[in-house]
Amino acid sequence: PDFSRRALLGGGLAVAGVALLSGGGQARPARLPARAAAAASGEHRLSLVAAERSAPLLGPDRPATPVWTYGDRLFDVVRIRQGETLSVDLENRLPEHTAIHWHGLRIPNDQDGVPFVTQPPVRPGERHAYRFTPPDTGTFWFHPHCDTVAQLGRGLAGVLIVEGDETRPYDADLALVLKDWRIDEDSGAFIAFSTPRGELRAGTFGTVRSVNGERSPRLPAPAGGDVRLRLLNLDSTRVGDIGVEGGEAAVIAIDGNPVAPFPLHGWRLGPAMRLDIVVRAPAPGAELRLIDYFAAEPVTLATLVGAGEPAKKRAFDPAPLSRSDIPEPKLKGAERLSFAFATASKEKAALSVAAEYGDALAEAMLDSLCASSSVNWSINREAWPSSAPAALPKPLALLKLGRSYVAELSNETPHVHPVHLHGFTFKVLKSSQRELPVHFADTVLLTPDERITIAFVADRPGDWMLHCHLIEHQETGMMGYLKVA
Ligand code: C2O
Ligand code: CU
Repeated sequence: PDFSRRALLGGGLAVAGVALLSGGGQARPARLPARAAAAASGEHRLSLVAAERSAPLLGPDRPATPVWTYGDRLFDVVRIRQGETLSVDLENRLPEHTAIHWHGLRIPNDQDGVPFVTQPPVRPGERHAYRFTPPDTGTFWFHPHCDTVAQLGRGLAGVLIVEGDETRPYDADLALVLKDWRIDEDSGAFIAFSTPRGELRAGTFGTVRSVNGERSPRLPAPAGGDVRLRLLNLDSTRVGDIGVEGGEAAVIAIDGNPVAPFPLHGWRLGPAMRLDIVVRAPAPGAELRLIDYFAAEPVTLATLVGAGEPAKKRAFDPAPLSRSDIPEPKLKGAERLSFAFATASKEKAALSVAAEYGDALAEAMLDSLCASSSVNWSINREAWPSSAPAALPKPLALLKLGRSYVAELSNETPHVHPVHLHGFTFKVLKSSQRELPVHFADTVLLTPDERITIAFVADRPGDWMLHCHLIEHQETGMMGYLKVA
């Protein structure tokens, strides 16, 4: 790849050596180096205590906010080596039930953490054990899967990094969690996480933006060094358009999955999506800004400030990560699926949980498959839950174990939907509207009226959720599951 200024300005993605597909071409991703490091073994024990704690989200001298976290810091960052087994003891000290979904990990279905579907809810005062060996390296995260509007809205989430993908170590490695907060700027208290207007449209946006819980932090970075930034959009609503100013940057992984490095020119990062980039840290005292260009006024999310002795000058040519072991779907002869993301029909909306449960709504939501007060959205004309909220609805599709599937995701609405499939890392093949690199992902952003084709191998049995990760859409109907048997 040519990361020179001219290449950056000249040809967009196409000059960067990454394979592009537009309108059905057959390009393949550039080859990545094989993994050099031997897999680790052994067990990594983790104790997570979900509880209310306080965080100074408005700044050090302002009223604190009663966040919900798994530990003493806002977003736990758990680092393990590929091959290690993660053994988690979750204790629930919240006033409502919870569970942990391990977003993006290809682990057994009974560890997937979806209350009422893959495990019983973990009630207040109870504990639950998770134990699995993440098969892939990369940047992942974990979060609850019921009343997520409120639980994630209060901050309940953590970062899981599986190391072992670097072919040449970078000079620093930072996880940056992008998340907005719905808080009152005077009292620091949370305000309503959801609004009827937001639920029906693009979601309810936060009032305070943050990176790692701070407003526009300034972070020291080894001057002149190559810094790996693991960006995680853990917001429930906001889509970012991520770029940098004041230095060079290259994308090295999408949702934790390595890609041949290509220059970062702006990347749409929807809720739940991750992007690993490498930036060249600036000279001592100089700044490199991480920017969100999505809104009319670009927003500086964070600033890296060069620190220490400047590194020896060399061209910016970030080392690629080693390739992953995601099973390659066989496109020839693959079974076809299609999923239409749309609003819910009027009758479905009338059968809402609200109508059935009236005043007992809050408990009803937590005890009835995690449905919300209204039904606004659907996948293939079905809204979650079905009209009988006490029983698991029918799967959206029955998949045969071990087969390859090609699925078309179509957006029939004027809003964006970050579509997430549990359990399988899929290959994004093409978009009807945009040039996208062929890449593996677990969440893909469907822009208005867009169709995106993905492919994956249904290699593990179970009930696997498929849903929009804009949480108000998910919890008001845009969720279903695939049964693999
Ligand atoms: Cu990030 Cu169904 O989840
Ligand atoms: Cu959506």
